[in-house]
Amino acid sequence: MNIDSVRREYTFSGLSKETADANPVKQFGNWLADAMQANTDEPTAMSVVTLGLDGFPQSRIVLLKYFDEKGFVFFTNYNSDKGVSIEQNPAVGLHFFWPKVERQVRISGFAAKTETKLSDEYFHSRPLASQISAIISEQSSEIPSRKYLENQFEILLAQLQNSKPARPENWGGYRVKPEKFEFWQGRENRLHDRIVYEKQYNDWIMKRLAP
Ligand SMILES: Cc1cc2nc3c(=O)[nH]c(=O)nc-3n(C[C@H](O)[C@H](O)[C@H](O)COP(=O)(O)O)c2cc1C
Repeated sequence: MNIDSVRREYTFSGLSKETADANPVKQFGNWLADAMQANTDEPTAMSVVTLGLDGFPQSRIVLLKYFDEKGFVFFTNYNSDKGVSIEQNPAVGLHFFWPKVERQVRISGFAAKTETKLSDEYFHSRPLASQISAIISEQSSEIPSRKYLENQFEILLAQLQNSKPARPENWGGYRVKPEKFEFWQGRENRLHDRIVYEKQYNDWIMKRLAP
């Protein structure tokens, strides 16, 4: 398979310090809205990058569920590899790629567990089957087989008998408080736009980077 000629030109849009919002959270919201408007698949999917206990960076996709000035929230198992890594080192990267609008956004920040109220509310807003899966899956641990997982699911489903499961303590949200954003807009001839926001006290300082 020859993949060396796989490439495309990026012509959708441009970004400058003048056109970007002075507030990077608002800028993120504008771009997410554009990605959704363009029918991007999984527009809220983002890579979360953590430093693993073995020293290797680890990346995995999760779904962004909330964002505002306080930070960017996703939900997971606190005992998973990412949970263990975050407890050890809360510095994380978030990374979005929206091909339909030829954009990526990178965010660096510090992750902390969300308040339990938010985790409870979000947990109970999920379909029952997803709640059961979250309870029975010891995420990132080795399991004997697929059958084992399905059995655990059926056992808990039968036990619940239409009652509402409680959120397990080891499942909940992380909120990533951003320190830095980079907005990348693909441009023609690979002369892409890169606008970075860095936090200085309570202000955001903008810079343009070479592509
Ligand atoms: C589109 C997509 C969405 C996902 N959303 C989540 C999520 O919101 N939370 C989560 O814990 N895992 C999610 N996953 C699974 C993770 O990528 C990963 O496999 C899992 O969290 C275990 O990661 P870890 O072992 O590095 O902790 C998603 C995967 C994909 C492909």
